[in-house]
Amino acid sequence: MGKKKQKKVFLKNRMREIYQPAEDSYFLSDVLKRTINEKNIKVIDVGSGSGIQAETLINMGVNPKDITLIDVNEEVIKYLLPKFNQSKIIQSNLFQNVKSKFDVIIFNPPYLPENKEEPKDSKLATTGGKKGSEIINKFLEQVRKHLNKDGKIILLTSNLTKGINWLDYKKKLIEKKKLFFEELRVWEITQNLTPVILDISEVKVNKSFLFKL
Ligand SMILES: C[S@@+](CC[C@H](N)C(=O)[O-])C[C@H]1O[C@@H](n2cnc3c(N)ncnc32)[C@H](O)[C@@H]1O
Repeated sequence: MGKKKQKKVFLKNRMREIYQPAEDSYFLSDVLKRTINEKNIKVIDVGSGSGIQAETLINMGVNPKDITLIDVNEEVIKYLLPKFNQSKIIQSNLFQNVKSKFDVIIFNPPYLPENKEEPKDSKLATTGGKKGSEIINKFLEQVRKHLNKDGKIILLTSNLTKGINWLDYKKKLIEKKKLFFEELRVWEITQNLTPVILDISEVKVNKSFLFKL
């Protein structure tokens, strides 16, 4: 094989590992355009892939310097580095290598239940575990630490994703879209900040405990 041809094959294989924008990507991108009105925000795009969501935000006027892109896939990181040279790009398994907090956290995750026939190179981008929700559930466990007080998470799921553990977050279905084999759903998730009101008149104090003080 000549050198030129060898390089072409390498590039083709590399591109195959990077999730190319599909129906879910375009749907999420459109929802972002309709729901994010603020430009002066610190954003993280988790599982950036081709970078379509970050690109959408930049086109909407968000400062590229306020955008962080993360992905677990090394090939994705190599691809994103020259494309988003003003943004922060981190190779990270979910939030493992992330320290900051954000106003908006976006995630188009691998959400499909495992299909043994799916090729290994596309599995990383599409399969979320046996039920499809395993990566989403890890994300929900970790994300709290990275969300500013009034911040929000924009997360895409599908009716095919089973077993999501929403923990105690507040969630609102922003939009859904029916495709011929699944229904895509985009959620706005926020922290449940309802204060716990303690009625001290109801608290019974044990007198012997008070004497010991
Ligand atoms: C469905 S693709 C979405 C890509 C892009 N955001 C879009 O909307 O087209 C999921 C992306 O998540 C990445 N990913 C999978 N597991 C991850 C993990 N544990 N931590 C970070 N990124 C992950 C994949 O490499 C892939 O790029």
